Amino acid sequence: MQARRVAQHWLTLDGDGALQTQIVRALRTAILRGELPPGHRLPSTRTLARELEVSRTTSQHAYEQLLTEGYLEARRGSATRVASTLDPVASTPDEAAPPSSPALSAYGQRLSEGAFGYPYRAFAEQELARFELLYGLPDHRAFPLDAWRKALTDAARHATPRALSYGEPEGTESLRQAIARHILSARGVRCHPDQIIVVAGVQQALALVARLLLDPGDRVVLEEPGYLGARAAFASAGARLVPAPVDEQGIDVTAVPRRTRCRLVYVTPSHQFPTGRIMSLSRRQMLLSWAAGQDACIFEDDYDGELRYEGRPIETLYALDGGHRVIFAGTFSKTLFPSLRIGYIVVPPSLVDVVRAAKWTSDWSCPNLEQVALTSFIESGDFARHLRRSRLRYASKRRALLEELTLALGGLSHQVDWQVGGGAAGLHIVLWLPKTSPRELARIVVRARALDVGIYSIAPYYLGEPRSGLLIGYGLLDEASLREAIRRLGRAIRADGTPRAAERRPR
Ligand SMILES: Cc1ncc(COP(=O)(O)O)c(C=O)c1O
Repeated sequence: MQARRVAQHWLTLDGDGALQTQIVRALRTAILRGELPPGHRLPSTRTLARELEVSRTTSQHAYEQLLTEGYLEARRGSATRVASTLDPVASTPDEAAPPSSPALSAYGQRLSEGAFGYPYRAFAEQELARFELLYGLPDHRAFPLDAWRKALTDAARHATPRALSYGEPEGTESLRQAIARHILSARGVRCHPDQIIVVAGVQQALALVARLLLDPGDRVVLEEPGYLGARAAFASAGARLVPAPVDEQGIDVTAVPRRTRCRLVYVTPSHQFPTGRIMSLSRRQMLLSWAAGQDACIFEDDYDGELRYEGRPIETLYALDGGHRVIFAGTFSKTLFPSLRIGYIVVPPSLVDVVRAAKWTSDWSCPNLEQVALTSFIESGDFARHLRRSRLRYASKRRALLEELTLALGGLSHQVDWQVGGGAAGLHIVLWLPKTSPRELARIVVRARALDVGIYSIAPYYLGEPRSGLLIGYGLLDEASLREAIRRLGRAIRADGTPRAAERRPR
């Protein structure tokens, strides 16, 4: 006999034995597995009979049997339900035990044993605070939604069958051309569009490069403190992580033991994550010659490189090196919005084919209609306009933030030692609190939360002993809310809960 199923997957009949027996078995198993929880309302015998294409008598007899056995309960005039006294877990029979987990590959094992759990789960699970200073989110209010909506609608309206088919793994030619022009004008990165592979953000670029360039045991130099997504991508590939300290000028690779041979260096020179420092030109040159001596590749993560608010940007490592050993990665996550999941990687011509193959085997390509929309968004000038406005907006928010911090914490130096870290770029700064113990820092975070301020320690970004500080993201809030957030944070740090005289000044 053939198996039958209805919309509810627990009612798959296995075709073994009389229909009534099959219904009883399916229901009993679902109840014991907890798929039908105690008190769950069951369909009427009429509905059940119709859905399973059995006679009403069969469904009635099946319910009666389960009522007698105590799996179901029915009160006069109301629906039949799963017995409220049942404890599904305790009474799960062996046949319902979950199958043993499939054996993992070495890569799977590293992922399962390493500390690579998605670090932003906690953020996703908890409500954003009213005054959220979470790092990494651009200002959604500043996003030109109408222009973007039009670009998307046009892309959909004019979609050819080809545009709706499988796309080229490296991304559409027109988007790669638009990106090539953009990074030349905004970042001084000169490359042929064929050297560009469109990827699902810098995170995918990291994963592809880790898989392509690293064997288990290879050493990768990382900034300390540094970006968790890079650490996870390299460590899950089996690489040995070699942290190199970041000082005022950026990463200091001279701290790496002399005879340590490294395959790759990962850096964020335009705006070090998380300290916010901008790597000096001499450090860039030193890093390039050090990497040449090691015959190592450099991964230049330019995640927020377009967001610079003062002075001329220093040349990228890619431009300084001429693109020989530097892989340059950029993203639209900070300039547009993170859920777009479009970024790009610029690789030396010798790597183009293999990166394209890695992209194909990973997820084939990035979504085509978004690529088409993004191309017209860039080519219409909307993107450049949005960037110019964003820079003004973020620069102004950053000034407000620094001003408010001085008001909130100024004059406190005898109680709290504090300094602001980070250049005039990107979407975050660091509030260093060198004399604040980890325990007190945790209390500040809790007190801030009680005042509806979301703030986070910088500690998770360290592989070794962390310095004491708070990461302040100023992308999300508007300027007035940002000021209020900092006033409240000041109260949380001072632990007195009261506004200061300076804060009460009318503005
Ligand atoms: C330093 C750094 N690199 C890369 C990323 C991730 O970029 P994407 O969204 O393009 O994957 C982030 C995200 O916050 C980041 O901080």
